[in-house]
Amino acid sequence: MQIVRQLDPLRDALAEFRKAGSKIGLVPTMGALHAGHMRLVEVAKQRCDKVVASIFVNPAQFGEGEDLDAYPRQEAADADLLRAAGVSLLWAPTADQIYPEGYATNVSVGGVSDGLCGAARPGHFDGVATVVAKLFNQTRPDAAFFGEKDYQQLSVIRRMARDLDFTHEIVGVATVRDPDGLALSSRNAYLTAEQRSNAVALPRLMQEAAAAIAAGGELATILAEATAGLLGSGFHKIDYLELRDANNLAILDDFTKPARLFAAAHIGRTRLIDNIPVS
Ligand code: PAF
Repeated sequence: MQIVRQLDPLRDALAEFRKAGSKIGLVPTMGALHAGHMRLVEVAKQRCDKVVASIFVNPAQFGEGEDLDAYPRQEAADADLLRAAGVSLLWAPTADQIYPEGYATNVSVGGVSDGLCGAARPGHFDGVATVVAKLFNQTRPDAAFFGEKDYQQLSVIRRMARDLDFTHEIVGVATVRDPDGLALSSRNAYLTAEQRSNAVALPRLMQEAAAAIAAGGELATILAEATAGLLGSGFHKIDYLELRDANNLAILDDFTKPARLFAAAHIGRTRLIDNIPVS
């Protein structure tokens, strides 16, 4: 696996792949890889001839007081995982390859960026859309792979790709969970043993709420009960627990398909998010 940090050698390497007729799959990450990322690589490998993974901890998507400095950085261990998984090239750019001197452009996606994490983390999805647009232009993949764990991010990227005429495929990959149901996230590493054991209330209460909604229960009551359940299980702040249209993320006051239940909740110093389909 080649590890490339500058744009010129990246373009040369990708040109070689294309000359050989290879279909290129891009898996963008911020590192601290876990089984959820490795599932993206696995799906990319099934669909493409060459998999390019990127690791860049993107300052533009972290707000003030968020965990940019503390965000886990472990490139050597990540590179070992990617190499063992058959990734052909790791794009680990230096910061100036993403944000050169004088950088002044922002990609802002309306609609799907509003609400949910967009409300709790102002500017976050501008940062995501901007860096992903850059990664798309830098690598010009045939397909790019993103986890449904960050479903709003996936929706923002799909909208951005349609609006800015990126023609490659955007592939959403189902959330990978621990056996007890907690969605894998780099931020799970911040949980103490007690918080980790309490955190399972998030997927459990969401599953129960989704089943009750699908069974025709009263939405506001179900969401209020699930919120109270989370607050009684070690979570101290709920940013949102909402039912949304799975296609355009419009808020739903009544259950209509396709719908997804979205939650963000704080446990200790960690903010966990999750989403599941309601059907
Ligand atoms: O999901 C992530 O890891 C990041 O938001 C992404 C898509 C790599 C952009 O920095």
